[in-house]
Amino acid sequence: DFLRRRLIAANWKMNKSIREAEDFAREFLQLIPDANSNERPEIVICPPFTTLSTLKSITEDYGVKLGAQNAFWEEKGAYTGEISPSMLLDAACSYVILGHSERRQIMGESNNIINRKVKAAVEAGIIPLLCVGETLQEREKDRAREVVKEQLVKCLKDIKLSGEKLVVAYEPVWAIGTGVNASSDDAQEMIAFIRSCLEKIYSREEADLTRIIYGGSVKEENIAEFLGEADVDGALIGGASLQAESLARIVRLS
Ligand code: G3P
Repeated sequence: DFLRRRLIAANWKMNKSIREAEDFAREFLQLIPDANSNERPEIVICPPFTTLSTLKSITEDYGVKLGAQNAFWEEKGAYTGEISPSMLLDAACSYVILGHSERRQIMGESNNIINRKVKAAVEAGIIPLLCVGETLQEREKDRAREVVKEQLVKCLKDIKLSGEKLVVAYEPVWAIGTGVNASSDDAQEMIAFIRSCLEKIYSREEADLTRIIYGGSVKEENIAEFLGEADVDGALIGGASLQAESLARIVRLS
């Protein structure tokens, strides 16, 4: 779509040593089109914090961007174990994943906490990659839209931003790491709904500029189908992003 550049984002989750990240990057860079090729989507790798610096040194000349998988909302101070958005900027991150269902479920992050994090990231100039999505139970009870809308409204509460400074990832929880992807029709339907929510929260113009991507068992076999949908602007990829060859193939198909 002419308004929105395609985005392929890798979420490595808690995987890879420094050595493994280095090997991945060297191989991956050989396999993707040149940075100035207009056949290339925007590419963002979100590795563990410990490998950011190594990846920066290898990828910076190739236009591959970096993202973090979490951030705190304060700038600095006595917050043992936390990392601030400005520290992430300093470590060359342009993006930060916030509201991932694994953090919501395992770490108990609420929409309110995610809202504080999104706000801090926006203020620091990092683009939040805000994840939303329903559980299987919620889908079966026909509550998927209601849940996703509530996540959007609460996580974006009182945050002023332009559409280019936000990415929303629709990740239905039942599709994450299960091998069971949503159908491209289901993804399109929910992503169009998310865009209509953004229109209500912001404006039509900003909603049209905001990239909304799909995540959940994306792989080279199904990427083209998702990208064939009008509102799907890219993908957030877990498992299939851990092998350089498989992520590169996804990039070439995007
Ligand atoms: O953030 C991406 C992720 O949750 C999807 O994981 O392994 O199903 O691609 P995966």
